[in-house]
Amino acid sequence: MKVNQIGALRRDHFPVFERKTYLNSCSQGALASEVRAAYELYLDQLEEFGSLWETWVGIQEDVRDQLAQVFTTQPDQVAITTSASAAVNAIASCFDFRKGPRKVLTTSLEFPTIGHIWHAQERNGAEVVHIAADPDNRLPAERIAAAIDGNTAIVSVTHGCYRNGAVNDIKAIVKAAHDQGVPVLIDAYQTSGAVPIDFEELGADFMVGGVLKYMLSSPGVGFALVNNQTVSEFVPTTTGWFAARDIHSMEIDKFDPAKDARRFEAGTPTVPSLYAAQAGLKLLLEVGVENAWAVSSQLHEQLRAGVSELGGICATPDGPGEHGAMLAVVSTDERALVNAMAQDDVVVSGRDGNVRVSPHFYNNSDDIEAALASMSKNRILLATS
Ligand SMILES: Cc1ncc(COP(=O)(O)O)c(C=O)c1O
Repeated sequence: MKVNQIGALRRDHFPVFERKTYLNSCSQGALASEVRAAYELYLDQLEEFGSLWETWVGIQEDVRDQLAQVFTTQPDQVAITTSASAAVNAIASCFDFRKGPRKVLTTSLEFPTIGHIWHAQERNGAEVVHIAADPDNRLPAERIAAAIDGNTAIVSVTHGCYRNGAVNDIKAIVKAAHDQGVPVLIDAYQTSGAVPIDFEELGADFMVGGVLKYMLSSPGVGFALVNNQTVSEFVPTTTGWFAARDIHSMEIDKFDPAKDARRFEAGTPTVPSLYAAQAGLKLLLEVGVENAWAVSSQLHEQLRAGVSELGGICATPDGPGEHGAMLAVVSTDERALVNAMAQDDVVVSGRDGNVRVSPHFYNNSDDIEAALASMSKNRILLATS
Protein backbone atom coordinates (compact mmCIF):
# COMPACT_ATOMS: atom_id res chain seq x y z
CA MET A 1 0.00 0.00 0.00
CA LYS A 2 1.36 3.37 -0.97
CA VAL A 3 0.02 6.10 1.25
CA ASN A 4 -0.12 9.49 -0.42
CA GLN A 5 1.39 12.50 1.24
CA ILE A 6 -1.35 12.66 3.84
CA GLY A 7 1.45 12.50 6.41
CA ALA A 8 3.76 15.33 7.14
CA LEU A 9 1.44 17.64 9.03
CA ARG A 10 3.50 20.64 10.14
CA ARG A 11 6.66 18.95 8.87
CA ASP A 12 8.33 22.30 8.27
CA HIS A 13 8.31 22.90 12.03
CA PHE A 14 10.86 20.09 12.42
CA PRO A 15 14.24 20.99 10.87
CA VAL A 16 15.59 17.48 11.39
CA PHE A 17 13.69 16.36 8.27
CA GLU A 18 16.02 18.48 6.11
CA ARG A 19 18.75 15.97 6.97
CA LYS A 20 17.25 12.77 8.29
CA THR A 21 14.38 10.34 8.25
CA TYR A 22 13.29 10.66 11.86
CA LEU A 23 11.13 7.74 12.99
CA ASN A 24 11.91 7.52 16.68
CA SER A 25 9.00 9.23 18.43
CA CYS A 26 8.51 6.25 20.77
CA SER A 27 11.80 7.28 22.34
CA GLN A 28 11.92 11.05 21.84
CA GLY A 29 9.70 13.21 19.66
CA ALA A 30 11.39 15.22 16.89
CA LEU A 31 12.48 18.68 17.99
CA ALA A 32 10.12 21.42 16.79
CA SER A 33 11.50 24.91 16.17
CA GLU A 34 9.07 26.30 18.73
CA VAL A 35 10.29 23.88 21.39
CA ARG A 36 13.88 24.97 20.75
CA ALA A 37 12.73 28.62 20.95
CA ALA A 38 10.98 27.90 24.27
CA TYR A 39 14.20 26.60 25.82
CA GLU A 40 15.98 29.71 24.55
CA LEU A 41 13.27 31.95 26.01
CA TYR A 42 13.77 30.32 29.41
CA LEU A 43 17.49 31.08 29.31
CA ASP A 44 16.98 34.65 28.07
CA GLN A 45 14.50 35.36 30.87
CA LEU A 46 16.69 33.68 33.46
CA GLU A 47 19.62 35.87 32.50
CA GLU A 48 17.54 39.05 32.40
CA PHE A 49 15.29 38.60 35.41
CA GLY A 50 16.50 35.67 37.53
CA SER A 51 13.66 33.67 39.04
CA LEU A 52 10.32 34.60 37.50
CA TRP A 53 8.17 32.55 39.84
CA GLU A 54 4.85 33.97 38.74
CA THR A 55 5.63 33.31 35.10
CA TRP A 56 6.90 29.83 35.91
CA VAL A 57 3.85 28.85 37.93
CA GLY A 58 1.68 30.31 35.16
CA ILE A 59 3.40 28.06 32.62
CA GLN A 60 2.91 25.07 34.88
CA GLU A 61 -0.82 25.84 35.02
CA ASP A 62 -0.89 26.22 31.25
CA VAL A 63 0.71 22.82 30.86
CA ARG A 64 -1.83 21.37 33.28
CA ASP A 65 -4.66 22.79 31.13
CA GLN A 66 -3.03 21.49 27.94
CA LEU A 67 -2.64 17.99 29.37
CA ALA A 68 -6.27 18.07 30.46
CA GLN A 69 -7.26 18.96 26.90
CA VAL A 70 -5.13 16.20 25.38
CA PHE A 71 -6.81 13.62 27.62
CA THR A 72 -10.30 15.16 27.54
CA THR A 73 -10.40 15.75 31.25
CA GLN A 74 -10.34 18.57 33.80
CA PRO A 75 -7.17 20.36 35.00
CA ASP A 76 -7.88 19.49 38.63
CA GLN A 77 -7.37 15.84 37.69
CA VAL A 78 -3.84 16.50 36.45
CA ALA A 79 -0.69 16.41 38.60
CA ILE A 80 2.55 17.55 36.98
CA THR A 81 5.54 15.53 38.06
CA THR A 82 9.18 15.33 37.03
CA SER A 83 8.86 11.89 35.41
CA ALA A 84 6.40 9.03 35.07
CA SER A 85 8.42 7.25 37.77
CA ALA A 86 7.92 10.15 40.20
CA ALA A 87 4.18 9.91 39.55
CA VAL A 88 4.09 6.15 40.16
CA ASN A 89 6.18 6.51 43.33
CA ALA A 90 3.76 9.08 44.72
CA ILE A 91 0.86 6.75 43.92
CA ALA A 92 2.62 3.70 45.41
CA SER A 93 3.32 5.67 48.59
CA CYS A 94 -0.44 5.90 49.28
CA PHE A 95 -0.75 2.19 50.07
CA ASP A 96 -0.32 0.58 53.46
CA PHE A 97 0.17 -2.99 52.29
CA ARG A 98 0.57 -4.28 55.85
CA LYS A 99 -2.92 -3.18 56.82
CA GLY A 100 -4.86 -3.54 53.58
CA PRO A 101 -4.80 -5.89 50.63
CA ARG A 102 -1.22 -6.76 49.67
CA LYS A 103 -1.24 -7.85 46.05
CA VAL A 104 -0.05 -5.62 43.19
CA LEU A 105 -1.11 -7.15 39.89
CA THR A 106 1.09 -6.06 37.04
CA THR A 107 2.18 -7.52 33.71
CA SER A 108 5.15 -8.77 31.73
CA LEU A 109 4.63 -5.89 29.27
CA GLU A 110 5.61 -3.13 31.70
CA PHE A 111 8.46 -0.68 31.43
CA PRO A 112 11.11 -1.63 34.06
CA THR A 113 10.35 1.38 36.27
CA ILE A 114 6.90 -0.05 37.05
CA GLY A 115 8.37 -3.35 38.23
CA HIS A 116 11.09 -1.61 40.21
CA ILE A 117 8.72 0.70 42.04
CA TRP A 118 6.25 -2.00 43.02
CA HIS A 119 8.99 -4.43 44.08
CA ALA A 120 10.49 -1.64 46.21
CA GLN A 121 7.14 -1.70 48.05
CA GLU A 122 7.77 -5.31 49.14
CA ARG A 123 9.54 -3.79 52.13
CA ASN A 124 6.17 -2.26 53.02
CA GLY A 125 4.38 -5.57 52.67
CA ALA A 126 3.44 -5.60 48.97
CA GLU A 127 3.29 -8.85 47.00
CA VAL A 128 3.93 -8.28 43.31
CA VAL A 129 2.42 -10.61 40.71
CA HIS A 130 3.45 -10.33 37.05
CA ILE A 131 0.85 -11.62 34.63
CA ALA A 132 2.49 -12.95 31.48
CA ALA A 133 1.46 -11.98 27.97
CA ASP A 134 1.18 -14.65 25.25
CA PRO A 135 4.15 -15.31 22.94
CA ASP A 136 2.46 -13.08 20.35
CA ASN A 137 2.56 -10.26 22.97
CA ARG A 138 -1.20 -10.17 23.42
CA LEU A 139 -2.48 -10.11 26.99
CA PRO A 140 -6.16 -11.01 27.20
CA ALA A 141 -8.02 -8.79 29.68
CA GLU A 142 -9.71 -11.95 31.05
CA ARG A 143 -6.34 -13.20 32.28
CA ILE A 144 -5.94 -10.08 34.40
CA ALA A 145 -9.57 -10.25 35.49
CA ALA A 146 -9.11 -13.85 36.65
CA ALA A 147 -6.13 -12.88 38.82
CA ILE A 148 -8.01 -10.15 40.75
CA ASP A 149 -9.20 -11.23 44.19
CA GLY A 150 -10.01 -9.84 47.62
CA ASN A 151 -6.29 -9.47 48.38
CA THR A 152 -5.61 -7.23 45.35
CA ALA A 153 -4.56 -3.69 46.25
CA ILE A 154 -4.11 -2.31 42.72
CA VAL A 155 -3.87 -3.36 39.08
CA SER A 156 -0.92 -1.61 37.41
CA VAL A 157 -0.89 -2.10 33.67
CA THR A 158 0.70 -0.46 30.67
CA HIS A 159 -1.44 0.84 27.83
CA GLY A 160 1.23 0.39 25.14
CA CYS A 161 4.27 -1.84 25.58
CA TYR A 162 7.60 -0.06 25.00
CA ARG A 163 9.30 -3.23 23.67
CA ASN A 164 6.84 -4.59 21.15
CA GLY A 165 4.11 -1.97 20.72
CA ALA A 166 1.25 -4.18 21.95
CA VAL A 167 -1.70 -2.17 23.31
CA ASN A 168 -3.89 -3.53 26.10
CA ASP A 169 -7.67 -3.33 26.36
CA ILE A 170 -7.73 -0.87 29.23
CA LYS A 171 -11.50 -0.42 29.37
CA ALA A 172 -12.04 -4.15 29.91
CA ILE A 173 -9.29 -4.27 32.54
CA VAL A 174 -10.71 -1.25 34.40
CA LYS A 175 -14.18 -2.78 34.35
CA ALA A 176 -12.94 -6.10 35.74
CA ALA A 177 -10.95 -4.37 38.49
CA HIS A 178 -13.69 -1.92 39.45
CA ASP A 179 -16.26 -4.75 39.59
CA GLN A 180 -14.17 -5.99 42.52
CA GLY A 181 -13.49 -2.54 43.99
CA VAL A 182 -9.82 -2.54 42.94
CA PRO A 183 -8.16 0.66 41.68
CA VAL A 184 -6.26 0.74 38.37
CA LEU A 185 -3.09 2.54 37.35
CA ILE A 186 -2.37 2.89 33.63
CA ASP A 187 1.09 3.65 32.26
CA ALA A 188 0.19 5.53 29.08
CA TYR A 189 3.65 6.81 28.23
CA GLN A 190 3.85 4.94 24.91
CA THR A 191 0.43 6.03 23.71
CA SER A 192 0.13 9.60 25.05
CA GLY A 193 -0.05 12.03 22.15
CA ALA A 194 -0.01 9.18 19.64
CA VAL A 195 -3.41 7.61 20.19
CA PRO A 196 -6.56 9.45 21.30
CA ILE A 197 -7.15 8.79 25.00
CA ASP A 198 -10.19 9.98 26.92
CA PHE A 199 -9.37 9.68 30.61
CA GLU A 200 -13.01 9.99 31.66
CA GLU A 201 -14.07 7.25 29.29
CA LEU A 202 -11.28 4.91 30.39
CA GLY A 203 -12.45 5.32 33.96
CA ALA A 204 -9.03 4.43 35.45
CA ASP A 205 -8.12 5.80 38.86
CA PHE A 206 -4.63 6.84 37.79
CA MET A 207 -2.87 7.34 34.48
CA VAL A 208 0.80 8.29 34.23
CA GLY A 209 3.13 9.29 31.42
CA GLY A 210 5.48 12.00 30.28
CA VAL A 211 5.80 14.49 27.49
CA LEU A 212 9.03 13.71 25.68
CA LYS A 213 7.79 11.19 23.14
CA TYR A 214 4.69 11.77 21.02
CA MET A 215 3.93 14.87 23.08
CA LEU A 216 6.89 16.57 21.39
CA SER A 217 8.46 17.99 24.50
CA SER A 218 11.21 17.40 26.96
CA PRO A 219 12.53 15.14 29.69
CA GLY A 220 11.68 16.57 33.12
CA VAL A 221 7.88 16.74 32.81
CA GLY A 222 5.70 13.76 33.64
CA PHE A 223 2.13 13.59 34.82
CA ALA A 224 -0.35 11.66 36.92
CA LEU A 225 -4.00 11.92 35.99
CA VAL A 226 -6.06 11.16 39.06
CA ASN A 227 -9.77 10.50 39.04
CA ASN A 228 -11.43 13.07 41.31
CA GLN A 229 -14.04 10.53 42.39
CA THR A 230 -11.38 8.50 44.16
CA VAL A 231 -8.61 11.01 44.87
CA SER A 232 -9.65 11.56 48.50
CA GLU A 233 -8.96 7.88 49.24
CA PHE A 234 -5.29 8.26 48.31
CA VAL A 235 -2.87 10.29 50.40
CA PRO A 236 0.75 10.10 49.24
CA THR A 237 3.62 10.02 51.72
CA THR A 238 6.06 10.80 48.90
CA THR A 239 5.30 14.51 48.79
CA GLY A 240 6.58 18.10 49.03
CA TRP A 241 5.49 21.73 49.15
CA PHE A 242 4.02 21.78 45.63
CA ALA A 243 1.56 19.12 46.82
CA ALA A 244 0.26 21.29 49.67
CA ARG A 245 -3.25 22.67 49.65
CA ASP A 246 -1.72 26.17 49.74
CA ILE A 247 1.82 26.25 48.37
CA HIS A 248 2.23 29.84 49.54
CA SER A 249 1.35 29.18 53.19
CA MET A 250 4.92 28.19 54.08
CA GLU A 251 3.61 26.31 57.11
CA ILE A 252 6.07 23.84 58.52
CA ASP A 253 4.08 22.18 61.28
CA LYS A 254 1.54 20.09 59.40
CA PHE A 255 0.89 18.03 56.28
CA ASP A 256 -2.13 19.43 54.46
CA PRO A 257 -2.21 17.98 50.93
CA ALA A 258 -4.20 19.54 48.07
CA LYS A 259 -7.69 18.10 47.68
CA ASP A 260 -7.21 17.33 44.01
CA ALA A 261 -4.60 15.62 41.82
CA ARG A 262 -2.00 18.22 42.76
CA ARG A 263 -1.43 16.23 45.97
CA PHE A 264 0.71 13.91 43.80
CA GLU A 265 3.24 16.66 43.04
CA ALA A 266 6.37 17.26 45.13
CA GLY A 267 9.04 19.98 44.87
CA THR A 268 10.13 22.74 42.50
CA PRO A 269 9.02 21.81 38.98
CA THR A 270 11.55 21.33 36.20
CA VAL A 271 11.05 24.85 34.89
CA PRO A 272 13.04 24.73 31.60
CA SER A 273 11.18 21.55 30.67
CA LEU A 274 7.86 23.23 31.38
CA TYR A 275 8.69 25.93 28.82
CA ALA A 276 9.40 23.19 26.28
CA ALA A 277 6.27 21.26 27.28
CA GLN A 278 4.07 24.32 26.82
CA ALA A 279 5.39 24.79 23.27
CA GLY A 280 5.26 21.09 22.35
CA LEU A 281 1.76 20.57 23.70
CA LYS A 282 0.52 23.70 21.94
CA LEU A 283 1.69 22.26 18.63
CA LEU A 284 0.22 18.84 19.41
CA LEU A 285 -3.15 20.38 20.30
CA GLU A 286 -3.13 22.44 17.09
CA VAL A 287 -2.58 19.29 15.06
CA GLY A 288 -4.95 17.24 17.24
CA VAL A 289 -4.22 13.72 18.51
CA GLU A 290 -7.03 12.31 16.31
CA ASN A 291 -5.28 13.71 13.23
CA ALA A 292 -1.88 12.52 14.43
CA TRP A 293 -3.29 9.02 14.86
CA ALA A 294 -4.97 9.14 11.44
CA VAL A 295 -1.55 9.79 9.87
CA SER A 296 0.57 7.42 11.95
CA SER A 297 -1.84 4.50 11.77
CA GLN A 298 -1.74 4.63 7.96
CA LEU A 299 2.04 4.83 7.98
CA HIS A 300 2.12 1.95 10.47
CA GLU A 301 0.14 -0.20 8.03
CA GLN A 302 2.38 0.83 5.11
CA LEU A 303 5.40 -0.21 7.14
CA ARG A 304 3.86 -3.50 8.25
CA ALA A 305 3.03 -4.41 4.66
CA GLY A 306 6.55 -3.50 3.55
CA VAL A 307 8.19 -5.58 6.30
CA SER A 308 6.04 -8.52 5.33
CA GLU A 309 7.08 -8.12 1.66
CA LEU A 310 10.69 -8.30 2.84
CA GLY A 311 9.86 -11.58 4.63
CA GLY A 312 10.33 -9.89 8.03
CA ILE A 313 8.41 -10.48 11.26
CA CYS A 314 6.52 -7.87 13.28
CA ALA A 315 6.35 -8.31 17.07
CA THR A 316 3.43 -5.86 17.29
CA PRO A 317 -0.08 -7.34 17.23
CA ASP A 318 -2.05 -6.23 14.18
CA GLY A 319 -5.69 -6.07 15.25
CA PRO A 320 -7.66 -2.85 15.70
CA GLY A 321 -7.00 -1.45 19.18
CA GLU A 322 -4.06 -3.83 19.60
CA HIS A 323 -1.28 -1.42 18.66
CA GLY A 324 -0.35 2.25 18.67
CA ALA A 325 1.92 4.18 16.31
CA MET A 326 5.05 2.09 16.85
CA LEU A 327 5.81 -1.04 14.87
CA ALA A 328 8.41 -3.41 16.36
CA VAL A 329 10.31 -5.40 13.76
CA VAL A 330 12.16 -8.50 14.94
CA SER A 331 15.89 -8.39 14.27
CA THR A 332 18.70 -10.91 14.59
CA ASP A 333 20.85 -8.10 16.02
CA GLU A 334 18.83 -5.06 16.94
CA ARG A 335 21.81 -2.81 17.73
CA ALA A 336 23.51 -3.60 14.46
CA LEU A 337 20.30 -2.89 12.55
CA VAL A 338 19.66 0.41 14.36
CA ASN A 339 23.25 1.45 13.60
CA ALA A 340 23.04 0.31 9.98
CA MET A 341 19.84 2.31 9.50
CA ALA A 342 21.53 5.33 11.10
CA GLN A 343 24.18 5.05 8.36
CA ASP A 344 21.32 5.64 5.92
CA ASP A 345 20.16 8.62 8.04
CA VAL A 346 17.12 6.70 9.27
CA VAL A 347 16.67 7.29 13.01
CA VAL A 348 14.99 4.39 14.85
CA SER A 349 15.65 2.63 18.15
CA GLY A 350 15.82 -0.91 19.48
CA ARG A 351 14.58 -2.85 22.48
CA ASP A 352 14.48 -6.52 23.34
CA GLY A 353 15.54 -7.80 19.92
CA ASN A 354 13.17 -5.49 18.05
CA VAL A 355 13.80 -2.41 15.97
CA ARG A 356 11.13 0.14 16.83
CA VAL A 357 9.88 2.32 14.00
CA SER A 358 7.51 4.96 15.32
CA PRO A 359 5.87 7.42 12.94
CA HIS A 360 4.05 10.55 14.11
CA PHE A 361 2.06 13.27 12.32
CA TYR A 362 5.19 14.86 10.85
CA ASN A 363 6.19 11.70 8.98
CA ASN A 364 5.11 10.75 5.49
CA SER A 365 5.10 7.72 3.23
CA ASP A 366 8.54 8.62 1.85
CA ASP A 367 9.94 8.24 5.35
CA ILE A 368 8.46 4.75 5.53
CA GLU A 369 9.88 3.90 2.09
CA ALA A 370 13.30 5.12 3.28
CA ALA A 371 13.10 2.93 6.39
CA LEU A 372 12.04 -0.07 4.30
CA ALA A 373 14.81 0.54 1.76
CA SER A 374 17.36 0.57 4.55
CA MET A 375 15.89 -2.62 6.06
CA SER A 376 15.98 -4.26 2.65
CA LYS A 377 19.65 -3.33 2.25
CA ASN A 378 20.30 -4.82 5.70
CA ARG A 379 17.97 -7.77 5.25
CA ILE A 380 20.50 -10.10 6.83
CA LEU A 381 19.72 -8.38 10.18
CA LEU A 382 15.97 -9.02 9.90
CA ALA A 383 14.56 -12.14 11.51
CA THR A 384 12.55 -13.94 8.82
CA SER A 385 9.52 -16.18 8.96
C1 LIG B 1 5.97 2.84 28.89
C2 LIG B 1 6.97 3.66 29.64
N1 LIG B 1 6.81 3.86 30.95
C3 LIG B 1 7.67 4.57 31.68
C4 LIG B 1 8.79 5.11 31.10
C5 LIG B 1 9.77 5.83 31.95
O1 LIG B 1 9.35 7.09 32.29
P1 LIG B 1 10.17 8.06 33.23
O2 LIG B 1 11.60 7.94 32.84
O3 LIG B 1 9.58 9.41 32.98
O4 LIG B 1 9.95 7.62 34.63
C6 LIG B 1 8.99 4.97 29.72
C7 LIG B 1 10.16 5.57 29.07
O5 LIG B 1 10.57 5.25 27.98
C8 LIG B 1 8.07 4.21 28.98
O6 LIG B 1 8.23 4.00 27.66
